[in-house]
Amino acid sequence: MVVGVHRPTQLVIDRQALHDNIQAEVTRLASGCELFMVVKANGYGHGAVQVAQVAKEAGATGFCVAILDEALELRAAGFNEPILVLGVTEPEDAPLMAQQHISATVAATDWLVAADAYLALAQPTAPLQVHLGLDTGMGRIGFKTTTELTTAVSYLATHATLNFEGIFTHFATADSPDETYFKQQVAKWQTLTAVLKERPRYVHVSNSATSLWHAACNDNMVRFGVAGYGLNPSGTAIPAPYALKPALSLTSQLVHSKQVVAGESVGYGATYTAQQTEWVGTVPIGYADGYERRLQGFHVLVDGQVCEIIGRVCMDQLMIRLPHDYARGTRVTLIGRDGDHVITLQEMADYCQTIHYELACGFTSRLPRVYRH
Ligand SMILES: Cc1ncc(COP(=O)(O)O)c(C=O)c1O
Repeated sequence: MVVGVHRPTQLVIDRQALHDNIQAEVTRLASGCELFMVVKANGYGHGAVQVAQVAKEAGATGFCVAILDEALELRAAGFNEPILVLGVTEPEDAPLMAQQHISATVAATDWLVAADAYLALAQPTAPLQVHLGLDTGMGRIGFKTTTELTTAVSYLATHATLNFEGIFTHFATADSPDETYFKQQVAKWQTLTAVLKERPRYVHVSNSATSLWHAACNDNMVRFGVAGYGLNPSGTAIPAPYALKPALSLTSQLVHSKQVVAGESVGYGATYTAQQTEWVGTVPIGYADGYERRLQGFHVLVDGQVCEIIGRVCMDQLMIRLPHDYARGTRVTLIGRDGDHVITLQEMADYCQTIHYELACGFTSRLPRVYRH
């Protein structure tokens, strides 16, 4: 997809906000505990390479991604820090990962067996770094029983192509005020890890929510994601221990303004009909940019005033009701502050009945990312 540089619509990423959020967490961590910044999905839409750079400056010592290509993007950009791929990779890519010093998440011993065969053939200069994932209740990937885990650990101990670098789990409800399920997962984690005779280099369980609200579990590394971007992982359910600064704003400009009279309709399906004479502005952004069609009826800011989105959000444009005529080129704020008003990703997510994670990741590459500070 091309980047729309000839259109006045852009995501603005505040580097200082990213830095402050990440540094605030690094400062809170117990001594010996490292922060790996989670930059999967293009840094939650903020730009993986740019976020990784700021995170490094703010004290992050490694990175987590979801897929191998995201790790390779960081290596190509010159990052030499440890990188852990959180998803299951293909065993045939084990030699590439070993060569690039990219750590693999392993969820089953048959993966180790398959990877070992490829590694034995390719003979990379370094072993593949392996983090064993434990499924303590997330129900996604990982070893579930002490027998499965013991088998994997013995396999690692007897195969020089592989190095047991880490062990981890992921909590399903760390962002919830109800800690019942969280505590069950902690208990399962403790039972499983009790079979380890030696601890690997990295032992980690914490996403943002766990690190913010259950720091006692942190062990020696945290996988810090959404809170680094200034977004509260619980939505509004639990206050963060420090002020999170949202790093992302979204701005555009009016490209057209016109008057409609009572009875005239706006947009596909003619779902909005003016009841009186009104000014209608057109903003060049739509669902092809990740601005959800469900946002019909939501609002943007023009000249510090709240303006409703009227009619259906189109693929590339949307229409808003203006208090009066405005010149073409007038600034429109879709996320962020204008005067006394702020529109947050959280409000947008509430309106769309989803979570801010989904909206942040959903902004497509057609939107230029512009970095400030
Ligand atoms: C295994 C794992 N760890 C850490 C994270 C980061 O989570 P958060 O963005 O809530 O901090 C994720 C994100 O989905 C994940 O899948």
